[in-house]
Amino acid sequence: MPGFEFRTVPTIVCRPGAAKNLAAIAAPSLNGAQRVLVVTDRGVRGAGLLDAALASFDDAGVETRVYDQVVADPPEDVVLACAAAGREFGAQAVLGFGGGSPMDTAKVVALLLGGTQKLEDMYGMNRAAVPRLPLALVPTTAGTGSEVTSVAVITTGETSKRGIAAPALYADLAVLDADLTLGLPEHVTAATGIDAMVHAIEAYTGKRFKNPVSDALALAAMRRLHGALERACADGSDRAARADMLLGAMLAGQAFSNSPVGGVHAMAYPLGGIFHVPHGLSNSVVLPPVLRFNAPAAETLYSELAQNIGLATSSAALIEEMERIADAVGIERRLSQLGVSHNDIPRMAEDVAANDRLLPNNPREMTYDDIVAMYEEIL
Ligand SMILES: NC(=O)c1ccc[n+]([C@@H]2O[C@H](COP(=O)([O-])OP(=O)(O)OC[C@H]3O[C@@H](n4cnc5c(N)ncnc54)[C@H](O)[C@@H]3O)[C@@H](O)[C@H]2O)c1
Ligand SMILES: [Fe+2]
Repeated sequence: MPGFEFRTVPTIVCRPGAAKNLAAIAAPSLNGAQRVLVVTDRGVRGAGLLDAALASFDDAGVETRVYDQVVADPPEDVVLACAAAGREFGAQAVLGFGGGSPMDTAKVVALLLGGTQKLEDMYGMNRAAVPRLPLALVPTTAGTGSEVTSVAVITTGETSKRGIAAPALYADLAVLDADLTLGLPEHVTAATGIDAMVHAIEAYTGKRFKNPVSDALALAAMRRLHGALERACADGSDRAARADMLLGAMLAGQAFSNSPVGGVHAMAYPLGGIFHVPHGLSNSVVLPPVLRFNAPAAETLYSELAQNIGLATSSAALIEEMERIADAVGIERRLSQLGVSHNDIPRMAEDVAANDRLLPNNPREMTYDDIVAMYEEIL
């Protein structure tokens, strides 16, 4: 067996209600910082999710400055504006609090504030480098797993999504408080939950970096997510289902951070970048055709994934089940429902074909023509 490397965040605290004691939980990982930049978005702040956490910093005598202007699929100007706010504040540490968009922004801002590297020099694999400011992440969606990944995805220019992937992006602390996800709307729960399942599937079938640890995490993640997604969608206040979703998404994050995602994410990116389709929804829509395309090259692995969640041991069973789940939780299945037309497909496919970070991980080689055919299949 070829060797492998595995990395993750050094401290993970997983406890319902943890956000209420965030200052005490985070103090050791944030090196006792007295000025903490809190990175979030208006939805999360407006829902009151931050209140208890901020009060805990207040009580501990730690000054916070909240930057709440993050938007979905964060563009570069938001990242730079957030960094400027942190610099002006004299931030000594960064706290990302929200879904993948605030967490990814926080990760990059911690690098920008802690070192001298410019944003444009960070894109790609292993280009971003420490030093960075101490960094803690608190997810409020059960999807991206960004709290434990070494990845941040930024929208560059008008429409392209580019990734920064480097060990420097592993936070010092991830705090999982499932109570924060109780109010997540059904459609967001569904889409972000399917995103997490896609992370597990793509990590398990990754061509380059799949390894025994990422495999074990991906299988465990799939079992939890598969068992809880429909329950969390049907009853958002089901705390056990919410806890399983958050933990499953984190396990999947650990898996794909070490065995990166492939064709599904590559095909989802242009939907987010060009059409602002939410990340989880983009992944969910392109999943079935990519699974069907990959099946000849990934029959054994897809069969193992199917068996792992109690289905028949075949790739067809996995594909059918993922389609059934999308229908059951009310996720759109066609690109035309998302505002994409036939004429958009060539530029989307060009974007995908140029993705040399993700396509090499896909179990089957994808050409431009293959990509066009898959988009056409779900138009
Ligand atoms: N870094 C990684 O490893 C990684 C992996 C996958 C995706 N991503 C990126 O993450 C982003 C998507 O993140 P996301 O899917 O978590 O969505 P998001 O962070 O964009 O949030 C989506 C919406 O949900 C709202 N929201 C969040 N938590 C809520 C809660 N508890 N209750 C009510 N509303 C809530 C937000 O206000 C926002 O309006 C994309 O930019 C994607 O590219 C990153
Ligand atoms: Fe994703």
